[in-house]
Amino acid sequence: ALNGSAARPLAGRRALVTAGPTAEPIDPVRLIVNRSSGKQGYAIARALADLGAEVTLVSGPTALETPAGVTRVNVETARQMLAACEAALPADVAVMVAAVADWRPDEAAGQKIKKTGEGPPALRLVENPDILATLSRGPLRPKLVVGFAAETNELEAHARAKLARKGCDWIVANDVSQGGVMGGDVNTVSVVTAQSVERWERLDKAEVARRLAARIAQDLG
Ligand code: CTP
Ligand code: CA
Repeated sequence: ALNGSAARPLAGRRALVTAGPTAEPIDPVRLIVNRSSGKQGYAIARALADLGAEVTLVSGPTALETPAGVTRVNVETARQMLAACEAALPADVAVMVAAVADWRPDEAAGQKIKKTGEGPPALRLVENPDILATLSRGPLRPKLVVGFAAETNELEAHARAKLARKGCDWIVANDVSQGGVMGGDVNTVSVVTAQSVERWERLDKAEVARRLAARIAQDLG
């Protein structure tokens, strides 16, 4: 049998995980929202907790239950997600799995926008803060910062570019060209670092999470 420290190599470590979509209000009844079930992020939060980490899961709206032993903070917008992440620091590792809306309506209307018969309203969008880049370059940067990227083509080139642009340590790039990933239970990922690329076979999201948590435990030593 494994002894305590071998089974729980992340005991005493703090982990921050983001998951799910963000939702950006247009008015009190309408949102701009990304496609994300939250399954991969929740599985990672669970796997890190299973290895003994103290996990804060900052989550956009999902239909999922909080994994046992994980502290969950619910948010809606990207700006709320950034604030909740900053409040959860310091941490030893951050894993940013959330599908953050890249843009939000400049100003949410205070009242429901009505159809006027004169056509749809023009929405002016502004860019949201990049949570991953902000944490990666911030004063309380976790020792290990991991981003995710869903790509349909040129997976590794896009992942390498994101590593450099965002200042994180690893990008877990998932191939969403095949279908079945969004909302599904399996994932095909590559773990891209500045020095290496590891291509993993098609796996259950729970198994991707366990392998990633083990790799994180190894990296943090
Ligand atoms: N991310 C973030 N904040 C944002 C946008 C993205 O923290 N405002 C994080 C995601 O959680 C993910 C990583 O950055 O870990 C990559 O997200 P992705 O959407 O692939 O990157 P973008 O820079 O937004 O590029 P793209 O134009 O491909 O959407
Ligand atoms: Ca994006």
